[in-house]
Amino acid sequence: MTMGELCAAYPYAADFFQAIPRPVKQRSTVGGYFAAIDEEAAEDLGMGRQDMIEQFLAFMRQMEQLRKEEEPVKSITVVGGQDKNGQRENIFLTIKAGEIICIVGPTGSGKSRLLADIEWMAQRDTPTKRKILINNRVPDPKYRFSVEHKLVAQLSQNMNFIMDLTAAEFIQMHAESRMVEDAGEISRSILDKANELAGEKFSPDTPVTSLSGGQSRSLMIADAAYLSKSPIVLVDEIENAGIDRQKAVRLLVDKQKIVLMATHDPILALMGDKRLVIKNGGIAQVIVTSDEERGNLTVLEKLDRQLLMIRDVLRNGGRIDALPAGVEGLHC
Ligand SMILES: Nc1ncnc2c1ncn2[C@@H]1O[C@H](COP(=O)(O)OP(=O)(O)O)[C@@H](O)[C@H]1O
Ligand SMILES: [Mg+2]
Repeated sequence: MTMGELCAAYPYAADFFQAIPRPVKQRSTVGGYFAAIDEEAAEDLGMGRQDMIEQFLAFMRQMEQLRKEEEPVKSITVVGGQDKNGQRENIFLTIKAGEIICIVGPTGSGKSRLLADIEWMAQRDTPTKRKILINNRVPDPKYRFSVEHKLVAQLSQNMNFIMDLTAAEFIQMHAESRMVEDAGEISRSILDKANELAGEKFSPDTPVTSLSGGQSRSLMIADAAYLSKSPIVLVDEIENAGIDRQKAVRLLVDKQKIVLMATHDPILALMGDKRLVIKNGGIAQVIVTSDEERGNLTVLEKLDRQLLMIRDVLRNGGRIDALPAGVEGLHC
């Protein structure tokens, strides 16, 4: 390799050579450059030529490691594997930062499995034989096997608290462990947001073990939105949790995050840029949400609000022999 090629491929290499009093000739080889340094000049820098070469290699290894760690996640790619019958899954799907992808399909079809493949960056070593790439490359093993480096925040159907803390203490502890600057203020925002999302409000001194499903889900969503630095957010069926789903999704959709969401909820399904249709363990179709579909989203949202109003009436012991104000077009 010539010095020119080296510096083009690894721009930081030039920083190393700046410290050495020998001009870099683009066309000389890297070996030639080091061979031409006389021992005396090297001595002036306090090392022999061999030390210099070793230092150069150590510097390059370290810089390469740093570069890998700092590289933001720009895309993830799902390379198809096989469905439950071992039939090939014809998929090579790249998802870019900022996209919301919904996953639809019958119960048992494999939606959670796809999320798990992404969570653990499957490398043809799960039942689906899928392979996941980050920025078009096989991810560094540390992303797979170390909790500290995980790229993924997962919000799942089952969330169990085992600690005996109040909601405020729990969030405060979490904020402090993330070493955010203003843990107190962020904790208050998280509790406020969680209360906004939850159907039934809760106070900061409620023990986490007595939060309802909807309340704890809201707390975890607000927590993920404010505290998580993970560039990938996976959401598994948040719909039946008694929370404001649309607000929750909007809160999570940070511009730079990749959101994948398994859902049976038509409103959430249409909020995605694309939806993956899962059949028998495989991705059978990738559908891009059309403008017409998005237009229908407004109609669905209206229907949904009306249904919620009816639910509230029934929940509070009312009857719907006559329709509540604001609900039209239903014949009871
Ligand atoms: N391609 C596949 N090959 C083998 N098993 C699969 C495949 N996809 C899913 N499964 C298995 O099928 C079961 C149901 O999948 P799951 O992801 O829980 O469904 P869903 O979340 O859609 O209800 C799980 O045990 C899962 O591991
Ligand atoms: Mg599931």
